[in-house]
Amino acid sequence: MILDKRDKDSILRIAVLASGRGSNFEALCNGDTGNGRISLLITDNDEADVLRKASALGVEALYMSPGRFRTKFGETEESEWTRLLMDRGIELVCLAGLMRIIKGSMLEEFRGRIMNIHPSLLPSFPGLHAQKQALDYGVRITGCTVHYVDADVDTGPIILQKAVYVKDDDTVETLSGRILQQEHIAYSEAVRLYCSGVFTDSGRYILKTEE
Ligand code: GRF
Repeated sequence: MILDKRDKDSILRIAVLASGRGSNFEALCNGDTGNGRISLLITDNDEADVLRKASALGVEALYMSPGRFRTKFGETEESEWTRLLMDRGIELVCLAGLMRIIKGSMLEEFRGRIMNIHPSLLPSFPGLHAQKQALDYGVRITGCTVHYVDADVDTGPIILQKAVYVKDDDTVETLSGRILQQEHIAYSEAVRLYCSGVFTDSGRYILKTEE
């Protein structure tokens, strides 16, 4: 299926969901996302630094309760998040350090329209502490992956990847820092491509027609 070329002038409203520092959120706000606009931030952590970043950038930011679980949403709460995204006319949802699994109504409503960024070359090193996993394993190349979100953790179709060489004297911190620089480039690029409508969807394989 070839996705429609989107109207070059129409703005596509994007929401970022994040739990912490917010450097990817900031990079998306400041990066070239084509006709995509980061118009909403929602966090499940009312002390997250990302809230301060949103306020400095003038982006509407909300804390919403995720429910009583630690790593997933309560059913009611996920519906509330989903309803808000729909009410705000959000067309693309970008997860950027959201420490929760999405499984319910949000995935149903936004299937194929939720992206995530992960600090490894998936399918290697999914889940938490991906940079440490890469160092512990001893790989010489790692990186980051932007992928669509499906019902499992870090398993959705891969949109774009950037490679990062591991240095002999790397620590988790130094390696994470270099991967993060590539994350910031990769996420804006993936969003810009999505918004320009060049992706063709062939199941697991996200192909690109010409821009
Ligand atoms: C990033 O490393 C991202 O790949 C992972 O969580 C981290 C979020 O960092 N999913 P930040 O909050 O965007 O600075």
